[in-house]
Amino acid sequence: MRILGIETSCDETAAAVVEGPGEGPWRLRSNIVASQVAIHREWGGVVPELASRQHVRDICGVVERALADAGLGWEGIDGLAVTQGPGLVGSLLVGVSFAKAAAWARGLPLVGVHHIAGHVESLWLAHGPLPEPAVVLVVSGGHTSLYHVPAAGRSHLMGRTRDDAAGEAYDKVAKLLGLGYPGGPVIDRLAAAGRDDAVDLPVTRLTHPDRNARERDSSFDFSFSGLKTAVLRHVRLRQAALGVAQLPEAEVADLCASFQRVVVRTLLSRTFDAARAVGAKAVGVAGGVSANSRLRADLAARGQSRRLPVFVPPIALATDNAAMIAAAGLRQLARGERADDRLNAVPSLALG
Ligand code: KG4
Ligand code: ZN
Repeated sequence: MRILGIETSCDETAAAVVEGPGEGPWRLRSNIVASQVAIHREWGGVVPELASRQHVRDICGVVERALADAGLGWEGIDGLAVTQGPGLVGSLLVGVSFAKAAAWARGLPLVGVHHIAGHVESLWLAHGPLPEPAVVLVVSGGHTSLYHVPAAGRSHLMGRTRDDAAGEAYDKVAKLLGLGYPGGPVIDRLAAAGRDDAVDLPVTRLTHPDRNARERDSSFDFSFSGLKTAVLRHVRLRQAALGVAQLPEAEVADLCASFQRVVVRTLLSRTFDAARAVGAKAVGVAGGVSANSRLRADLAARGQSRRLPVFVPPIALATDNAAMIAAAGLRQLARGERADDRLNAVPSLALG
């Protein structure tokens, strides 16, 4: 089966072709991403209206490139998969409308895919079947969620952020340090030159249950807004002490390294605690922040000391892409799932 995946949930217009049987192994035939970062950088973050307009401009060309790179015409495609949510509604609607129109015109089956299920699936696409059960952390600009994956294609939510996503914290800290957007890659780079114990930043411990989800055990939840505020307070104090708006390079590097140490430690502690709680045989980390060099290094070290195999996707499958959506869609189509013409974008679609 060959599936064309389409992803437009935020600020990347993406299309990809994935081929294989329902349960894998899968082969990636093409993976095209048109990034809008240059457009949104000017505003310091994603501007939803600009994002949806750019998706409209890019979607046809991106799909044509994905087919051409795969060496296929429409007749070589057996089905379509599109991100249904969560995401920005105007952005999602471009992909969903395009996919519905293409499926109708070509008489192809279509499925709606949960964006986070796609991030989880990026690990299976890159590495083949993971040992089960697995625990997977999806950590990006919009999400920080921990899943118990008892079997491929099934995810149960174990924990999530109560406020900012980890990638969002990176982006906000970079903004207040005047480092530009997106913040993750630049903080990652600057942190390499800093001392990670230079600034004493708090590690958030959540002691109360989530008031919005009382039925769920919330001991694996995350919170990053306190850390972001602590960085802000530190920056203001240092600016006042030195009488400057821009802190010296060495201080910025130290602050980036210290911030990154706390974020990575928080993410990995919670993930490995969850792995122990469910007797996981593998740990995976996916999503844009999984590109982080320290997260990758510390994950490998923890995996080795706990004797657990650990998995991250290659960078091209870590940040938003349509290959992961095609892979998740392939599994769903093989299970017999079908969307009809009522398929709609759902900005706050739930998973697990
Ligand atoms: O998965 P993604 O491409 O889009 C969302 O679904 O949000 O993730 C983007 C996020 C941004 O917040 C960006 O700052 C972060 O991933 N990111 C990183 C790194 N590369 C991207 N964060 C930390 N270190 C990195 N190397
Ligand atoms: Zn994402």
